[in-house]
Amino acid sequence: MAFSESFLTELTERNDIVDVVSGYVRLGKKSGSNMFGLCPFHSEKTPSFSVSPDKQIYHCFGCGKGGGVINFIMEIENLSFPEAVEFLAKRAGMPIPEEENDRESRKRSRMLSLNRDAARFFYAQLSTPQGGAARDYMAKRRIGPATAKNFGIGFAPDTWDSLEKAMREKGYTDFELFDAGLVRKGNKGGYYDTFRNRLMFPVIDVRGNVIGFSGRILGDGEPKYMNSPETLVFNKSRNLFALNLAKKSKSGYIILSEGNIDVVSLHQAGFDSAVASLGTSLTPEQARLLSRYTNQVIIAYDNDGAGIKAAQRAIGILEKLDLKVKVLRMSGAKDPDEFIKLKGADAFRNLLESSENQIDYRLRSVTDKYDLSVDEQKVEFLKEASDLVARLPGSVERQVYAMRVASMSGVSADVVTKEVERRRKKLVNQARGSEERQQSRPERQLQPEEKALRYEDPSSAAAEEGLIRLLYLDPALARNAELPAPEEFSSPVLGHIYSVLRDKIDRGETPSAATLGGALDGQEMSLLVRLLQKPELLSKGDRALADYIKRIRERKEQGKQVSDLRALADKLRETKGYEG
Ligand code: CTP
Ligand code: MN
Repeated sequence: MAFSESFLTELTERNDIVDVVSGYVRLGKKSGSNMFGLCPFHSEKTPSFSVSPDKQIYHCFGCGKGGGVINFIMEIENLSFPEAVEFLAKRAGMPIPEEENDRESRKRSRMLSLNRDAARFFYAQLSTPQGGAARDYMAKRRIGPATAKNFGIGFAPDTWDSLEKAMREKGYTDFELFDAGLVRKGNKGGYYDTFRNRLMFPVIDVRGNVIGFSGRILGDGEPKYMNSPETLVFNKSRNLFALNLAKKSKSGYIILSEGNIDVVSLHQAGFDSAVASLGTSLTPEQARLLSRYTNQVIIAYDNDGAGIKAAQRAIGILEKLDLKVKVLRMSGAKDPDEFIKLKGADAFRNLLESSENQIDYRLRSVTDKYDLSVDEQKVEFLKEASDLVARLPGSVERQVYAMRVASMSGVSADVVTKEVERRRKKLVNQARGSEERQQSRPERQLQPEEKALRYEDPSSAAAEEGLIRLLYLDPALARNAELPAPEEFSSPVLGHIYSVLRDKIDRGETPSAATLGGALDGQEMSLLVRLLQKPELLSKGDRALADYIKRIRERKEQGKQVSDLRALADKLRETKGYEG
């Protein structure tokens, strides 16, 4: 969604960057007008994270991250641009200028506020006399008060209408409660509370909205979990329990477990990146959601048949998204919660560190299926295991695992290797057809992100940076200059920043971190802030501008000659039949 310049300007004026950052980082005053603190985006012992109250930007000299207040919230809360804008608008008590005040969106926000009030109600019940049963249960499961607060865990009393009454007092109607799945229709026409005598876990999305609930029975019994039904705001297969907390973890991976208690217990033991799906096996939507926050998932499902099957399925889904997947093998405990209680957090940490990559894990599952002392089964094992190994991308990897398969089955390494390579060839041939089709698509030609940041031509890039810096600081300079086109830049990423910047200037807007934030991604924004740190003499802006432009054009001329030469070389090679 596009926000107006005036709205974004007001938003950033009402969310002073020092105030906002101070909520996350302890800032001390230091050199010049900048404040310094420990960078929240990488670990460090001496402060290299600076905030400029004048410019309203932050910049880390250590990891290079930087931007305006909206970028800071995007980065630290892991939100998209519109989500961060919404976050800051809420913080400053500003309404968002959306034209979507149609019925559905009003209904949505009403349901979210009902859910929030219901969560508060459940939480409050924990400290009432009738909450005794829940307190006892939590004590038995060793869930402490701080953890309960962190998750907003509550209790649905053992009555038919406590929630209904309380919410009606707050002005919600039975229809609204019904739509939110908080009450059900009785036979005689009335309504009764859906969740009764259960430990209540609010399900909170990455934006901080309470979208639904999971209620666990106190003790044994069926069903163990009751979840909110699908509603306007709740979709089980698109959300994960505790992702609102896990997304902030610095651990670099996400732990995927099965039960809410496992998640709670993991967080309590310091593993703050644990999440669980909500009573379904992992869905592709959930995997996609995870991939926004991490590139590595460690599966810590229950140690039983169902858990192992679910893990296999999850591996397939996660790998499709290029996520690194590891699987935890717990022994002597049925699930992470029990493991931590029996053996402690350190033991669990060891387990995480030694968790198997998915190849080991799958190889072991194949091994477990067959009795290798029986010849026919050994043959089947070899087929299946070679197929698995043949799918590994690296030839060294294939060699290593082929040897492992050989030693497991007592067949010579040579034979297994040959079999693996034979299958590999077949797979490659099969894949080639579809790959060729893919490669002809133009979007595949785009440069990968990290590569785009390496300047191919540092001297021209310095001039390109300078041009961007000058125009950002003094947009009026654009008026009298004959500016280069973005395509004339040697660095595609600088070219993009430049084109976004020019677009703003051409429309008469004043460029700022806020107004550019919507069009630049985090990496581009960091680069922009970094290049703004370098000094620029604005009093001689015109001359500097002309100089930068000249340098960019010169390199373009040289570049053209080089590429002409390259084309010539290509042509020669073709006619002589050289291999590429
Ligand atoms: N489940 C569910 N709804 C949830 C969470 C879990 O229906 N919101 C289901 C899962 O599909 C799985 C089981 O409950 O089948 C997971 O249970 P378990 O790991 O045993 O749950 P915990 O909360 O960890 O409870 P326990 O203390 O018994 O381990
Ligand atoms: Mn469990």
